[in-house]
Amino acid sequence: MDKNFLKDFPILRNTMNNRPLAYLDNSATTQKPESVVRSICGYYGGCNANPHRGVYELSVRATKVYEDARKKVAKFLNANPREIIFTKNATESLNLVAYSFGLNNLHVGDEILITIAEHHSNLVPWQRVARATGATLNYIYLSADGNLSVKEIEKKLTRRTKILAVTQISNVLGLVNDVKTLAASAHEVGAVVVVDGAQSVPHIAVDVQDLDADFLVFSGHKMLAPMGIGVLFGKKKILEEMPPFLFGGDMIEYVEEQTTTFAELPQKFEAGTQNVGGAAGLSAAIDYLRGVGFAEIERIEKDLATFAVAELKKIPYVELYGCEAENKIGIIAFNVRGVHPHDVATILDAEGVAIRAGHHCAQPLMKFLGQNATCRASFYFYNTRRDVERLIESIQKVRGVMHLA
Ligand code: ALA
Repeated sequence: MDKNFLKDFPILRNTMNNRPLAYLDNSATTQKPESVVRSICGYYGGCNANPHRGVYELSVRATKVYEDARKKVAKFLNANPREIIFTKNATESLNLVAYSFGLNNLHVGDEILITIAEHHSNLVPWQRVARATGATLNYIYLSADGNLSVKEIEKKLTRRTKILAVTQISNVLGLVNDVKTLAASAHEVGAVVVVDGAQSVPHIAVDVQDLDADFLVFSGHKMLAPMGIGVLFGKKKILEEMPPFLFGGDMIEYVEEQTTTFAELPQKFEAGTQNVGGAAGLSAAIDYLRGVGFAEIERIEKDLATFAVAELKKIPYVELYGCEAENKIGIIAFNVRGVHPHDVATILDAEGVAIRAGHHCAQPLMKFLGQNATCRASFYFYNTRRDVERLIESIQKVRGVMHLA
């Protein structure tokens, strides 16, 4: 394994079905290095108490762990700590924006613009908002090379567009959208820009000020941190004007029998006891990723993707999706002609190769591609060319196992 990342990820040293594990489902979730596991254990072993609530030492420690993690995320994204809201994942962050901002700011005749390549998490909440407010949900489609069609953007982004919600990297095709340019165009027509960073923040350097994103969301578990911790970045001015999303403990200023005033940012959006252990894990994950460096992460993943696409193209019965676009990272969607993706994934699993098969929570994109489902191999920096070779070798066995060869 390059740079000996293997020593930091004990799970990757496991065998699956008596074969060494080639874990190629990193878009679904990533594995955790020991430093992240240690930070979670360290929190529960030495600092666990309810933050913000106790005056005793242990609660003060828990508060420090939690708020230090917030500062670390803020620095990581080039934001202000008050603009960082902890949630359970990108999905919850997007629902927060949809319910708190969308429902309260959209009206009949307004438009929400998204792309056909959105994950359901950045699509279904907008359907709900559109239905509740009378707004219209519009789509930017892809051109033949898989990129967002510039013509579509010019046509669909108008003064009626109030929200542009776009993924920075497609979770199926791995295509990187030029969010900075899109945000500038959206701001010209007065739209608010929501960026789904679930597949970008773990893989490329993201600076919310450079992008000029109004909101940006991501999940910790796709970037080495545990499941159950996610982030919503929002510009302070916009967040301040939004009502809370969830109501209850720790998000109030003063409660009367019939009325309540709410806490300042970020507490206003963090009702109930929060995932402090998860925040500790996220903080350690950011340290680890910074140690590797995003230039290096991108270099490794681009090398793996280029190698994989070149090898897959040599197999005549493999169909690739979105692999002609230049700006692509290590997510490859493919099918083996005549074999259902679930069968492909099951046969690969017997070889110790873990990939995802299905609609990848992107059914409108599947329909646009004319497929019900695809296989998907997704890389992280700890993968190697040997993992790619094993992917190719096992794909070459698929048709034989299915008696199609
Ligand atoms: N959003 C995750 C994926 O694309 C679960 O697999």
